[in-house]
Formats: sequence, C-alpha cells, structure tokens
Amino acid sequence: MRVGILTGGGDCPGLNAVIRAVVRTGGRHGHEHVGLLHGWRGLLERDGRSLGRADVGALLTRGGTILGSSRTNPFKSEGGGEECVRAFADLGLDALVAIGGEDTLGVARRLYAEHGLKVVGVPKTIDNDLSGTDFTFGFWTAVQIATDAIDRLHTTAESHDRVIVVEVMGRHAGWIALESGLAGGAHAILIPEQPTSVDAVVARLEDRRARGRTYGIVVVSEGVVLDGDAAAGELDDFGHAQLAKVGVGEVLAERLSERIRAEARPVVLGHVQRGGTPIAFDRVIATRFGERAAHLVAEGGFGRMVALHGGRIGDVELSDAVSALKTVPEDIWRAVEEVVAGP
Ligand code: F6P
Repeated sequence: MRVGILTGGGDCPGLNAVIRAVVRTGGRHGHEHVGLLHGWRGLLERDGRSLGRADVGALLTRGGTILGSSRTNPFKSEGGGEECVRAFADLGLDALVAIGGEDTLGVARRLYAEHGLKVVGVPKTIDNDLSGTDFTFGFWTAVQIATDAIDRLHTTAESHDRVIVVEVMGRHAGWIALESGLAGGAHAILIPEQPTSVDAVVARLEDRRARGRTYGIVVVSEGVVLDGDAAAGELDDFGHAQLAKVGVGEVLAERLSERIRAEARPVVLGHVQRGGTPIAFDRVIATRFGERAAHLVAEGGFGRMVALHGGRIGDVELSDAVSALKTVPEDIWRAVEEVVAGP
C-alpha cells in the first residue's frame, strides 16, 4: 500500500514521533509512505515527498513537524472534497494517516463519510479538547512548559509584591490552565468553561493579602470571556477566532491593577507552549498512536481514530471523536478549585 501522512493545524510536540512510528511500523506491513507537506494544502497541491526509514531517524526528540503544517480547510471552497479525492488518486495513494486536532480530523471524517476516502486519524493538540481519547499527545508537554514558567514567576512576583497574570493557550477548553495552574500552585485559575468575574479574582487576592500574602499568580486560559465582554478576534479557515489577539491576560491585568493594592502584570506564554522537545509521556503515546495507526491501515480500519483509554491504545469512530469538544467537566473543576481556593 502507498500511505500518505499529513500533519494539520497548530504544531505540537510529538508530531514527529508519530510520523516515525507510522513509517517504521508500516514498513513491516510492506507499506510505502508519502509525507504530504503542510497539512491538507499538501494533498490539494499534490505536494508530497517519499518517507523511508532513513528519513525518520532521530525524530523522537524533535519538536514541530518535518512535514510542515497549515490550517487549510479543503471544504472551504466549493468542490474541495472532490478535489481531495482526485489528488488522492493522482498521488497514487491507497490510504492516508491524518494527524491533527478537531479541524484536521473533522476534514478527515467528512472525506471518509462523504467521499469514501480511506483515512485513519491520530489525535494531536496541546489543547486536549478531542473527545474519544483520554489525552491527545503534546498536551502534557504544554502543561509542563506552562508549569515551569509559573514556578519561575512565583519568585519574581513575590520579590516585587506583584500579581502576575499568566495567559496560557487552550482555545475553548481550559485543560492547560487547569493542570498547569494546579501543578504550579496558582492562586486563581480562570477557564472558559466556568464564567467568572474580575470581582471574584479581586476577592481572592484581597483574601490572600489579609493573610499577609502580598503577591499572587493568576492563570487565565486564552478563551476566557471576562464579565460578559464579547469574544472577538480574526477568524481562521475553520472559522475559529484567533484568541491570542483578544489578549485576555493583558485586559485582566489592567483591570486588576485598577482594583487591587498591588501592580498586576501580564505574561503571555504563547507559542513557547507548542515548541521544542516532547516530554517522555508524549513521546510514548505519540509512538504508540503511530504504531496503532499503521496497523489500522493494514487492517482496513478506515474512518477511525487511534485513542488512549486507561493506559491502553485502541481506536474510536472519527465521527465520535469530532462530534463534541472535550471541555473541563464541572466535577474536575470543583475538585481543583477546592485546593486552589482553599483557606
Ligand atoms: O490549537 C492549538 C493552539 O495552540 C491553540 O491553543 C491556540 O488558540 C491556537 O492553536 C493558536 O494558533 P496559531 O498558532 O495559528 O495562532
């Protein structure tokens, strides 16, 4: 079989480990591999390069994606699905492994369901917002990077009696804020799933001050909408707002500065969270996802996405994975809040 591989959407630590595992495992089945460059754009432009075992050496530690990525949505133009089918045939492909998040896998689902394209999905995103899998690879690396930053910010905030507002990524899911805030001992964590107010954050910080704590760390997820502010931002190909441009961290720091007896300063972690070497956990699940994806191709398990369930790698229908965003459930939020807001 001739198997295409593509990486779409925001890059994420562990993408290269998946590519390596697909090529190495697929090789055992006699598969030949073609890397499509820059996500769905590579398919539409018939832009691919052959990937042999020698091309996937030394990839476990390498961040980003050797195939490049983009947020191209083939369904944005009329007849985009049919064009993908033609490109698939022109490239002589028998199957395609699509590594991506909600958007990339949403395209994969439609290509399978509406055009019968033989696609297998692999769940990627630092946001961890895909249903059907316990975790996406890349998420815990982003959490570790954010936690390391928060650890460092504690000491400088304390030295200057400042409040530091740390804005993390995650889009409409608060997973990165929740886990890094918990691990980093934040004094307040704001996530999009739990509407809150500047008043509530002020009250939390004033309560700390009353106990002699004159500094604070507030972690805010980029998708938080403050006090009924309208969500805004430019839209990408998939219709998502570019939340970094909204700048909730900066706005919150400004509003806090007006209300508390300390200076509040924003720190936006941005793309640092997506760059560099994956931690061991992400290398392991990325590799195991890639291995399973290659077997799924060999078994003809198309229209499915590999997934992690309680430590075991399995697979689910692509349609189940992309039907609803996996956001932070109320009970997990409450449990974290009990510790963060504790006396
Ligand atoms: O989906 C991953 C992610 O990093 C989000 O957390 C963030 O909102 C978005 O991508 C940023 O995308 P870009 O790099 O295209 O600005």
